[in-house]
Amino acid sequence: MAETNTPSVDEPITRRGFVGWAAGLAGAFAALVAGVPVLGSLVAAGPPAKQGDLVRVADISTLPDGVPAALTFVDQTQDAYDYSILPHSVWVVRGSEAASGGLGLTAEADAITVFSPVCTHLGCQVFWDASTGHFVCPCHNSVFSIDGRVVSGPAPRGLDVLPTEVRDGALYVRWVDYTPAISEKIPV
Ligand code: FES
Repeated sequence: MAETNTPSVDEPITRRGFVGWAAGLAGAFAALVAGVPVLGSLVAAGPPAKQGDLVRVADISTLPDGVPAALTFVDQTQDAYDYSILPHSVWVVRGSEAASGGLGLTAEADAITVFSPVCTHLGCQVFWDASTGHFVCPCHNSVFSIDGRVVSGPAPRGLDVLPTEVRDGALYVRWVDYTPAISEKIPV
């Protein structure tokens, strides 16, 4: 049977045996402590700190004209050692007043607006009700127009418009969480 340095329950612990065993334990502990900075440097070598990059969500040519489209994308953020990968959905509205059937879009044919789906009242997710041509929140019945304005209900402000960019025919969106239940649009 292999020999071990740990005291056996069957054997009385001699003074010399105990000292040897304790010295071994102290050495193991010292090696562990010495390894901690190495572990820390490996963690610190992750991606550089960033917050809410623009993420490519669609080719402009694939977006429907005058009808809101629900798109999803994955957002990666890092705040110090807090690294997260979160899926988000957004409502993308592209098109002109004519294309939307008089629902209230701009006169600019290729105007694109990306709304957060988070209701500005208390944070439920709004959906597009094609039968009424409005965004509707199922929680307390806030209703928003196709251009995000409050039509009725307790929502204190319109739907939050997210930052966007168009590059090489593609739409990029930056996810932002805004503070609910207040009239001002303020990032959390
Ligand atoms: S959370 Fe949308 S109306 Fe209350």
